[in-house]
Amino acid sequence: MKDIHALLAQMTLEEKVGQLIQISPSSLGVFAEITGPAQEWGMTLEEISRVGSCLGATQAKHTIPLQRKHIEDDRNHIPLLFMYDVIHGFRTLYPIGPAMAGSFDPALLYECAEMAAREAATAGIHVTFSPMVDLARDPRWGRVMETCGEDPYLASVMGAVQVKAFQGEDISAHDHLASCVKHFAAYGGAEAGRDYNPVEVSERTLRQFYLPAYKACVDAGVRVLMPSFNDLNGVPSTANTFLMKQILEQEWGYCGVTVSDWGAIAELCKQGVAEDLKEAAYKAFTAGCQIEMMTPAYYRHLVELVREGSIPESAIDEAVLRILKLKDDLGLFEDPFHGADEAKGEAMFLCPEHRALARRAANETAVLLKNDGVLPFSKDVKKIALIGPFAEEQKIFGTWNARGKAEDTVSVREGIERKLPGAEILCAYGCGNHYTDTDTSGIAEAVELAKQADAVLLCIGEPQSYTGEGKSRTDITLPGPQAELVKAVTAANPNTAIVHFSGRPLVLTNIYDSSRAILHMWMAGTEGGNAVADLVFGDVNPSGKLSMTFPRAVGQCPLNYNYTNTGRPKTVPDEEFQNYVSSYLDCGNRPLFYFGEGLSYTTFTYESMTLDTHEMTEDGCVTVTVRVKNTGERAGKEAVQLYLRDMVASAVRPVQELVAFEKIELAPGESKEVTFRITEPQLRFWNAQNQFVSEAGEFRLMVGYADHFHFADSFRLIK
Ligand code: BGC
Repeated sequence: MKDIHALLAQMTLEEKVGQLIQISPSSLGVFAEITGPAQEWGMTLEEISRVGSCLGATQAKHTIPLQRKHIEDDRNHIPLLFMYDVIHGFRTLYPIGPAMAGSFDPALLYECAEMAAREAATAGIHVTFSPMVDLARDPRWGRVMETCGEDPYLASVMGAVQVKAFQGEDISAHDHLASCVKHFAAYGGAEAGRDYNPVEVSERTLRQFYLPAYKACVDAGVRVLMPSFNDLNGVPSTANTFLMKQILEQEWGYCGVTVSDWGAIAELCKQGVAEDLKEAAYKAFTAGCQIEMMTPAYYRHLVELVREGSIPESAIDEAVLRILKLKDDLGLFEDPFHGADEAKGEAMFLCPEHRALARRAANETAVLLKNDGVLPFSKDVKKIALIGPFAEEQKIFGTWNARGKAEDTVSVREGIERKLPGAEILCAYGCGNHYTDTDTSGIAEAVELAKQADAVLLCIGEPQSYTGEGKSRTDITLPGPQAELVKAVTAANPNTAIVHFSGRPLVLTNIYDSSRAILHMWMAGTEGGNAVADLVFGDVNPSGKLSMTFPRAVGQCPLNYNYTNTGRPKTVPDEEFQNYVSSYLDCGNRPLFYFGEGLSYTTFTYESMTLDTHEMTEDGCVTVTVRVKNTGERAGKEAVQLYLRDMVASAVRPVQELVAFEKIELAPGESKEVTFRITEPQLRFWNAQNQFVSEAGEFRLMVGYADHFHFADSFRLIK
């Protein structure tokens, strides 16, 4: 343990401010010349030696010499913090966030995030900018691919589990890192799904839906937090005192580190809330943003702001102490390389155990959206056609891929070749030169191949580069002529199934009727192609569920299953138009697929749901027992989902909200009971006065999903 107070006492104001600056490795001057931001800002070598953290060094062969030199150069010998985005794996990639959330298996995500921490730690990374728990209700927003989906409860569970897995019991351990939850707050609420756009939500909605997942991460002990780029109700999060002082510190008791998003402090000027960098520095710092990432507002102005009396030095001290404490808890004062070891990393990256875990994760996260019985294919097929732009594509691992590479990734073709070494494989791109154009010339060849094959896998979707930061889209249908390809190929060979890749929910309405089976893989990580082969030939039975609703038309967006009723809900079948009710003239209200949906090769029959009581007192509980039977012929897994509706309250309440889930495995003919306990805190909500309360009255419990419930029963909360 370092005496960080004694260390602080010996630091000059300039040295303290240095700890609040984060720059890229190229700026650190270790490679003879200074480049990057530090060069642009005119930093001297001495100033660089005081910097507290570095973003983007990803290899031990860089972090080790950088750290060594930095400790030598800094008068106080304070180690650097190395931070990086380790989002869904480091070198071995597992499926992207919404896929992992849809596994409904937090223990699996725990194992995956632990693997990511283990790999990243060998590179000398100390903090990962993960998890990202922004609520995602609008698939036009390209960053949905980083989230845990649209449900506050699921995102809370999945966010917290990642924090625990990254950090372990002790962040000084060489196989763990500190975790940074982001982007606080409500970044996913960007207007019209356009990245960086303002977010306008009431405080009640913010607290009810958007904040719980960040809070769950804080409660799980997350060490770092990143405010979001957007403005929230007119105040950019980077300078948002309500968010960072009132909610984060005062209400939630957070006393960890905060780091701005990339360039976000300087952007306060463009957002028009700061006249210049000096005002931006003042506003961000006093709102609670401690580290500035990649812009020079703190570097240029914090010392001056203290000297002129605008910011007390004690406030700088408090921020620096938090950073020094994080360094100390990571053990960096005694052990500045934190186990960074190039050889250890090389031995671990993509090792059989890690690949096996990535494959299991891809298997558990695939969602079978439609199947009329065409899947699984028989392994007796002699000739199989792989058609479509994703047939041989290795970029199916998902962006924000850290050090993961296309060449490490198993394509569908490779997966099928390994699974069926004796079969003849025919391959066609099917979409002209590139699937983003409208060239339909490849379809004829694809149809010819389809006719010759015993079975066809149509591997389609949206390129992974279409999702991620800054990748918003207004048209979220399949790009290029893929819908035509689906129609033509399915007509040519009915023994056709679709394997679909995308980082966001796409509008699949125009292929739904013409397809017989759709297996949605999201972006499936390094082992994606092996998982496809496991799934389509039935070695693995699909068990993923959607963590985001798939719209029927883009005009339905934003869209979520936990909506509130209007006074005029639709009462006729969804495909019929009904005037003067909440509906569309040209489209039903129902999405194509709801949150929580996902099929299996077997059938699960929900046999009963029983409540041990129909009255609950404030300190009591209701125990719900659900009996599920596998009534099909294959073993399978089912995510049993329990939803709640507060029937009458002082404010409108969602028609259903996920309150509990458990994924179970059942052999053919086997049945199991799942038990959930509901207690009063789960009945609380944010009322019109922004108080978190429960109200007496009737609550309905439902098992199933969205508009597909097997059983429902009610109880009353007695006060
Ligand atoms: C992203 C963050 C990320 C940061 C550092 C930003 O552009 O918004 O999510 O952590 O870059 O890479």
